Amino acid sequence: MTKLTKVAFVKAAAPKGGVTVLLAGEKLALGTLAADVLGALEGGLDRPAGVAGFTGKVGASLDLVAPAGLSLDRVLVVGLGKTEEAGEEEWLKLGGTIQGLLKAAKVEKATLVLDVPGIDPVGPEIAAQIAMGAKLRSYVYDAPKAKKPEDDGPASLTLQIAVTDTKAAKKAWTAAEGVADGVCLARDLVNLPPNYLGPVEFAKAASDLEKLGVEVEILTEKEMKKLKMGALLGVAQGAARPPRLAIMRWNGGKKSEAPVAFVGKGVVFDTGGISIKPAAGMDEMRGDMGGAAAVTGLMHAVAARKAKANVIGVIGIVENMPDGNAYRPGDVLTAMSGTTIEVLNTDAEGRLVLADALWYTQERFKPAFMIDLATLTGAVIVALGNLNAGMYSNNDELAGRLDAAGKATGETVWRMPLSKGYDKLIDTPNADVKNTGGRTAGSITAAQFLQRFANDVTWAHLDIAGTAFGPPKNEINQSWATGYGVRLLDRLVADYYEA
Ligand code: BES
Ligand code: MN
Ligand code: ZN
Repeated sequence: MTKLTKVAFVKAAAPKGGVTVLLAGEKLALGTLAADVLGALEGGLDRPAGVAGFTGKVGASLDLVAPAGLSLDRVLVVGLGKTEEAGEEEWLKLGGTIQGLLKAAKVEKATLVLDVPGIDPVGPEIAAQIAMGAKLRSYVYDAPKAKKPEDDGPASLTLQIAVTDTKAAKKAWTAAEGVADGVCLARDLVNLPPNYLGPVEFAKAASDLEKLGVEVEILTEKEMKKLKMGALLGVAQGAARPPRLAIMRWNGGKKSEAPVAFVGKGVVFDTGGISIKPAAGMDEMRGDMGGAAAVTGLMHAVAARKAKANVIGVIGIVENMPDGNAYRPGDVLTAMSGTTIEVLNTDAEGRLVLADALWYTQERFKPAFMIDLATLTGAVIVALGNLNAGMYSNNDELAGRLDAAGKATGETVWRMPLSKGYDKLIDTPNADVKNTGGRTAGSITAAQFLQRFANDVTWAHLDIAGTAFGPPKNEINQSWATGYGVRLLDRLVADYYEA
């Protein structure tokens, strides 16, 4: 991770020198402070905006050099569009847009005058969202290269945000920054090549959260054997690198309170195993630990902002390889729950890892709910593309809360069906259940499989195969990995499970 933008809050005052960022709504509507500053420019905003065709549309900008005699040097006016419609996600994107403009302009330090027409004063939460957007946009994956790409820009960028209440803004930002760091951690884990991040290295990254006060336990293969995790171990058995199960605990709530639990699929590389995948695009399966990365990033977030909740993260970390010792189509595995599983396709490995991780989590922790995240199926990408994660749940309240947290953060989910009819598709005469459901409804039958291991605990499954990596670059992310799920689940915890 390199050169993340630093954020500082300063008292709103007439800006002096450097780059000043001002905000303009539709039809060039300005807040009073912005109007004062721009009024000092000869002729105000109308002429340069007219010449450049700038109308204050969202995402548009106007770069002005201040005339001689003013205390300002350069003014960057950024469009807000219709501010009445702006929610959390819009402020986040605004921060990203500003960051992108400042980076392109090779600026070292800039002051954003947080003055918005119609919103007076702009609250600390909006300030923190803008700052988070800037920080997320500034994330760059630091790829291993002997010759680093040339960058003639400044070594760092500090974004000062001028607000009325600096104390409140700083407080909101301290929490939001912890979440942003969690997103960046998740992105780093997904971006890393599979030879750099094996199960042991991933477990080490989880252990590093101890610095933030997270309790971390790492189970080895031997310990998992003792627990009879035959499904997870079946997947791992063809790999030279041994599996790990990481258990992360943040105890921020009352002792008597049942924890909330998050479970992640951490397949550090998915070749498909003996049911091997085609060569084209197989490299993308370095991101098949996106669920585990999101859970780890979330644990970072809740610990960094000292969430008042008991939160558990459990991640199953394995590699799926073809080998003389690999599991085969036709094998019958016995999961920790005792359920026997007929393997019909070794490429349907994620659900096997989760079967044991889910069972273990509910049995040991008796959580208030359990949410798993997994890059589970290509089918969910066919259904929803990269704009929504597929959501499955056995509980309408939890599903509703996830939906609301998704809308608030922009990390949206779309609920998909579960039913007895779909469940039937994974019955088999050869075992209690089979690990694939045939050609149709692939994301649904995968979810039905997981439900059999959730054991009536309130549960939701997020199929993030389409959202964890690979979408087009946008205002708040320029890297392959998105960090999807960290902001969504942090928001869920903050809004519904903190005292
Ligand atoms: N990791 C893949 C799913 C995936 C595909 C994630 C593309 C991200 C992008 C998963 O393990 C898998 O291979 N699923 C199979 C299941 C099938 C064999 C039943 C699939 O979706 O084809
Ligand atoms: Mn697979
Ligand atoms: Zn997979």
